[in-house]
Amino acid sequence: MSAPLVLGLESSCDETSAAVLRGDEVLGHVIFTQDFHRLYGGVVPELASRAHLRTVDDVVAGALREAGASLADVDVFGVTAGPGLIGALLVGVAWAKAAAWALGKPVVGVHHMEAHLFAAALEHPGAQPPFVGLLVSGGHTLLMHVPAWGEYRLLGSTRDDAAGEAFDKAAKILGLPYPGGPAIQSAAAEAGEDAKRHRFTRPLLIRSQQPGEADYYDMSFSGLKTGLRMKVRELEHGGAQPGDEVAPLAAAFQDALVDTLASKTMRAVKQTGCRRVVLGGGVANSRALREELARRLGSGGELYAPSPRLATDNGAMIARAALFRYERGETAGLDLNARADLPFPGMTRVTPGGGPKGRG
Ligand code: KG4
Ligand code: ZN
Repeated sequence: MSAPLVLGLESSCDETSAAVLRGDEVLGHVIFTQDFHRLYGGVVPELASRAHLRTVDDVVAGALREAGASLADVDVFGVTAGPGLIGALLVGVAWAKAAAWALGKPVVGVHHMEAHLFAAALEHPGAQPPFVGLLVSGGHTLLMHVPAWGEYRLLGSTRDDAAGEAFDKAAKILGLPYPGGPAIQSAAAEAGEDAKRHRFTRPLLIRSQQPGEADYYDMSFSGLKTGLRMKVRELEHGGAQPGDEVAPLAAAFQDALVDTLASKTMRAVKQTGCRRVVLGGGVANSRALREELARRLGSGGELYAPSPRLATDNGAMIARAALFRYERGETAGLDLNARADLPFPGMTRVTPGGGPKGRG
């Protein structure tokens, strides 16, 4: 029997996206990015919800058309149930529940970050457990050991800003556009010889730390952003033209953030003995991060990262995660609700060097 036809719907933030999936094959996929949030330097929740409402029907219709399928052909509806912006999530959840009810088909609530972990597997058959997973998006920074799908051992996370959020805030400080990650990447590429002119302290990264010590895996990016702001002020007081230092500062900031992420990830590789690393989330698009991890993993390691289209928010990863949960019999009732702080299913917090510490 062939795999069920899954329709995945994503609306947790500023992308309205739908995908039609059979097994690992994406048959139709539409991603509508709400570009206008740039005007405000970040996502405006209420405007995001309204835009999802306006576009959701057309986005789903587009994905179905591309797949050569109709709504009645769908076997399972998968939808992001959290975490994310509550108003935005509700649009997708209400849509999926209504469709499932009308057609008498099951609906599966998907955890957005678990779905990010599945994205690489859609393009790379090797991106399967066991692996060390690094999820880096605008809202989350999670380092985990994944011995099997559905089993997530959290090693470390951020204490404050997420990696993508740090890029976005740093871009604002430097007068670069939103989203900040790609803008900082482009600016850093212009730095050339000046790329090493500045250096920022790596937060919570002490080279002599041992497994079992506090902060061995945890991250913090808020201080890095403050460091950048102070540096900009210092340069301005020294009479520097604001524009002159943007490229070297962007390079130094990116370097500090990437070094922190790569170093903590390599600690996990060393401690778990697992040389396969899977990236997910928008910051997985970072060329510097991919290159640094590939370099440190060397020829004995494997690095899997989704293509840019699947690294950022998309319906295909939601459909794939929904298929996994559906195959385990985990469908939801019509009381499925969106939750801004939905807990990661199957996640246990692991103390470095020790055992599980309970659900987190
Ligand atoms: O996963 P995502 O699309 O949305 C969330 O669920 O948050 O991630 C968006 C984040 C933004 O903060 C953006 O600045 C960052 O991903 N990003 C990057 C790059 N491309 C996108 N960060 C660093 N380098 C990039 N090339
Ligand atoms: Zn995301």
